Amino acid sequence: MRTIVMANHKGGTGKTTSCLNVAHALREQGHSVLMLDCDSQCNLTQSFTLPTPAGKRLDAVLLGQASLSDTVQEVGQGLYLIPSSPDLAEAEERIGKKPGAEFALKELLEEVEAIDFCLIDTPGGLGKLTYAALTAATAVFIPAQPEYYGIEGLVGLLDVCQQVQKRLNKDLKVGGLFFTQYNRSDRRRAQKDMVTLLETHPVFGPLVMRTTIRPNVALVEAQIEKESIFTWAGHSAGAQDYTALTAEILTRL
Ligand SMILES: Nc1ncnc2c1ncn2[C@@H]1O[C@H](COP(=O)(O)OP(=O)(O)O)[C@@H](O)[C@H]1O
Ligand SMILES: [Mg+2]
Repeated sequence: MRTIVMANHKGGTGKTTSCLNVAHALREQGHSVLMLDCDSQCNLTQSFTLPTPAGKRLDAVLLGQASLSDTVQEVGQGLYLIPSSPDLAEAEERIGKKPGAEFALKELLEEVEAIDFCLIDTPGGLGKLTYAALTAATAVFIPAQPEYYGIEGLVGLLDVCQQVQKRLNKDLKVGGLFFTQYNRSDRRRAQKDMVTLLETHPVFGPLVMRTTIRPNVALVEAQIEKESIFTWAGHSAGAQDYTALTAEILTRL
């Protein structure tokens, strides 16, 4: 199983949207996919219709109150989710006080059998669960909105990835950075300047991915309707962009 983490300490950059749609795109290609909702705001969980009683969620399994098989729920053919709830915040704090908390997700995922890909959605901020996700990852991908960024924030995020590589997961690959809610024909100055700055930057340049995710309301609608973008609006820009992004991710794993 290959584990892909979407991470960016800023909120609202498209982590959840990308997790969800890359998972659906991998499913479209016939892969089996497990999603892990590591955000106590549980937007990924809310993108599916499913009961999430205590004992069937990530917080329970992290606290040793449930097993992995109790918590994995099938949300589509070959598509699985370990859901979360607001209680995850407290569970994160509790496991964070124990030694080796960074390995919690890695150990959990070692139990998973016969799944091709795992996609982990992380919260904003850089808490224990984000470290745990990076420790469990094959590769991390960074969704970023050009207008929101000072480059310093991204430098800090890369620094965290390097610390994880050094101390917790030497195999972690920084797979790439992609722009969300951005169109390459966008003429707005601030956005263009930020994109150019990153593309020509000695460290970030090689990480910047070709695919950008354009602003597309169908992505928002599909999530609200709890449908895959590929059944909701299969010809939309959102469906096209996430198909392209998924193909590019596969070349960078
Ligand atoms: N390509 C897009 N086009 C339009 N809206 C988007 C797009 N990507 C994300 N959004 C919306 O932007 C908001 C933030 O995205 P989200 O994926 O939840 O970010 P994060 O998980 O990083 O906080 C959500 O309301 C989402 O529906
Ligand atoms: Mg999110």
